[in-house]
Amino acid sequence: MASTNGITLRSATESDWPAILELAEVCFGMRYDQPEIENIPGLFPIDRAIVAVDEGRIVGHTVDRTMTITVPGAATVQAAGVSAVTVAPTHRRRGILRALYTAQHERTEAEGIPLTIFTASEGTIYGRFGYGPATVENAVSIDRAQAEFRPTAPDPGGVRTSTLAAAQDHIREVYDRWRRVVPGGQARPDANWNIWFADPERHREGASSLFVLTHPDGYVLYRRQWRNDESVATVAEFRAVTPEAHAALWRVLLSLDLLKKVEASLTDDDPLPLLVTNPRLVRTTARYDGLWARVMDVPAALSARTYQQDLDTVLTVQDPFRNAGGTFALRVRDGVAECTPTSRPAELELGIDVLGSLYFGAHRARVFAAANRIQAKDAGVLRAFDTAFTAERDPELGWFF
Ligand SMILES: CC(C)(COP(=O)(O)OP(=O)(O)OC[C@H]1O[C@@H](n2cnc3c(N)ncnc32)[C@H](O)[C@@H]1OP(=O)(O)O)[C@@H](O)C(=O)NCCC(=O)NCCS
Repeated sequence: MASTNGITLRSATESDWPAILELAEVCFGMRYDQPEIENIPGLFPIDRAIVAVDEGRIVGHTVDRTMTITVPGAATVQAAGVSAVTVAPTHRRRGILRALYTAQHERTEAEGIPLTIFTASEGTIYGRFGYGPATVENAVSIDRAQAEFRPTAPDPGGVRTSTLAAAQDHIREVYDRWRRVVPGGQARPDANWNIWFADPERHREGASSLFVLTHPDGYVLYRRQWRNDESVATVAEFRAVTPEAHAALWRVLLSLDLLKKVEASLTDDDPLPLLVTNPRLVRTTARYDGLWARVMDVPAALSARTYQQDLDTVLTVQDPFRNAGGTFALRVRDGVAECTPTSRPAELELGIDVLGSLYFGAHRARVFAAANRIQAKDAGVLRAFDTAFTAERDPELGWFF
């Protein structure tokens, strides 16, 4: 591969694994637990890793695996899921990340994969590479003792306590049903389940091992902890396929005695605040992004998802990092899109990072236009584009990588 300033890029081999692991621990400031060390190679195979080498020492790394991810309309696309992007603190800000990313994205283009995705450590790095934040999560804290369900809130029951060992098959089956209908949900590899079911000490952050609640159409994994003289339950994963499972599981979570607070992560369209008598009790303490997305092939990506209204428009997409941009005609009928390169004049202009943010339906085109990150010919063009790109439900990251 490429060589710049004495730094060589090459594909990784089995013998590089200890150095890649050490680099990740230094860069992220943590130590992996044994179940992670055993399962990461199954999750992100070594032959998908690209390393930067200086005088025989590994000073940079990136890796990906092809993921199946759900898009609006409950269809799926293939995406390159990028992980463990690291450059040694001794070698920063001399273009190693840029060189690694160039090689990695060239490979993704050659493979014809229409999307790349990841979770970002910082918000300022990845826009230049054409990525935009593509989901919104609200961290919430609920004063459990005060929480009361409205008389009209469903009370379907059906929840049981379980152990992680006993509930594994159920959890996997429900997750798989859930991810098929939620934009942003990825199919989950065995190696990731192996890590979750081993419940590594590092994931606990001082809290208990995982407690489990199950419902025929849902499950909750949560931890208990004493913090500042208060008992807190932190939801590690909540998956409900039906509104009944959602209400039933929250009823049990909020009736755990000897517990002051429940902390969880909700999408904007989660109905929990509407199920309780005092919606302010579901207090948002932070808002953050989970998934980031970059469109690699505009026609393939835009014709893979569905749309909320018919549309006939022409858009120019700018891609300063790769060559995926251009001018495209987008025609939608009954939710289904055709997208082709065109020489017709554009009605809308936007960066490919903005397209990544709109793709799963978490962000609105009209808000990007207000920030001058979409330029539209007129208000009618913008309104139609804005409505068409919304989704039937808020997207959510399926599993963190
Ligand atoms: C983030 C990291 C990979 C950057 O590596 P690097 O080799 O120093 O990056 P480069 O020199 O190739 O920089 C590429 C571009 O990103 C910018 N950039 C890099 N790190 C940045 C940061 N932390 N904040 C803002 N911009 C950053 C550079 O200015 C450069 O911009 P330009 O090419 O448009 O001029 C490295 O600092 C690191 O390992 N950090 C800790 C682990 C981490 O956060 N990994 C990312 C996981 S998603």
